[in-house]
Amino acid sequence: MGDRVILGPYAPGTAVDAALDQRRSDVVMTVRESGLRGRGGAGFPTGTKWMLAAAAAGDEKYVICNADEGEPGTFKDRVLLQEYPDLVFDGMVTAGYAIGAKEGYVYLRAEYRYMLDALENVLEKMRSEGRLGNAIRGREDFDFDIHIHLGSGAYVCGEESALIESMEGRRGEPRIRPPFPVVAGYLNKPTVVNNVETFALVSRVMEHGADWFRGIGTEESAGLKLYSVSGDVQEPGVYELPMGITVNALLETVGGTDAAAVQIGGASGTMVTRREFDRKIAFEDIATGGSIIVFGPERNLLGVLENFLEFFAEESCGQCTPCRLGTMRLLEGVRDLQNGSVEPERIDALRNLADSMAISAKCGLGQSCNAPFGSILDAHLEGVAR
Ligand SMILES: Cc1cc2nc3c(=O)[nH]c(=O)nc-3n(C[C@H](O)[C@H](O)[C@H](O)COP(=O)(O)O)c2cc1C
Repeated sequence: MGDRVILGPYAPGTAVDAALDQRRSDVVMTVRESGLRGRGGAGFPTGTKWMLAAAAAGDEKYVICNADEGEPGTFKDRVLLQEYPDLVFDGMVTAGYAIGAKEGYVYLRAEYRYMLDALENVLEKMRSEGRLGNAIRGREDFDFDIHIHLGSGAYVCGEESALIESMEGRRGEPRIRPPFPVVAGYLNKPTVVNNVETFALVSRVMEHGADWFRGIGTEESAGLKLYSVSGDVQEPGVYELPMGITVNALLETVGGTDAAAVQIGGASGTMVTRREFDRKIAFEDIATGGSIIVFGPERNLLGVLENFLEFFAEESCGQCTPCRLGTMRLLEGVRDLQNGSVEPERIDALRNLADSMAISAKCGLGQSCNAPFGSILDAHLEGVAR
């Protein structure tokens, strides 16, 4: 099958043809059996999500491709959309067939507006070839079309319920959940929201089979994964590697063996240092949507943390107090730490604040601040870099 499968040759329509050979419920089973988990970060099992949406009451259902790609350090979805749009769209069509939806939307990051014409052209070609629109591939029982909705440039709009609010024309603020989008999503109808890479992988699963996918990676984290690698490495870029690879093995692949620390999962992820480089990048160990930022020994890690917290404070939607104020307090704390004017009790209080945000903030933005805060502070105190 060659070295690259996700980013390998793809004959448009292959995945949909394979899906249409199966009953709708069997497509859901195939995705379940593959062990595929969402690639947007949280790792929810894709087949289970589809099963819930298929079973939800209502004859109007939607499929949304989350192409907001706002996590600092990730750029894999951009490569998929630019170079493999058919793979992504076919995954959406497969989802539409499986759950019984007639419409799909791509929520495209505002900064990716330059791709809009090219993507619309691909959709138009799919329509002219009978791969999109009414009676797809001559199947009278299957109509499905895809539209593109441009985002407006807010990180929080990548959170699926804020994304749906934004699509409905309101401020991009997360909803209280439950109900989850699979039950009441876009226009309050059952909706599947999946990441760009997840849809691309669905297409590969339909093409090569559930057993093939399940046979790669680990028991809990099946398959291949795209990693966006940046920072102090010889060859930054998008890499296709199995789930469960160790940090060490990844660093060897990308020419980053001089690394002092690696931030896995973007600004909202976790920093690991040399003594943890044998850990696995997998949902059961260090989870990531795909952002890998490598830091050499000359980097100022507190400066990195300050940068991440500035980002969170700026991007907090302000709706809930733990996130609105917590991100500011953490940022002030890190600035004071850099000035050397912080007592040990204050550091403990800041750690407690970050931990409390993890359980009290309304959405993943505020909830995930404790991972970078605790781990980068630890890496700094360990003295692995400047
Ligand atoms: C603040 C925030 C930003 C997010 N940004 C993205 C994003 O840019 N792309 C994405 O796919 N998921 C993002 N997510 C996760 C989505 O809420 C959701 O879990 C995901 O789109 C589901 O798709 P998956 O199951 O295929 O991973 C974000 C979550 C949070 C809390």
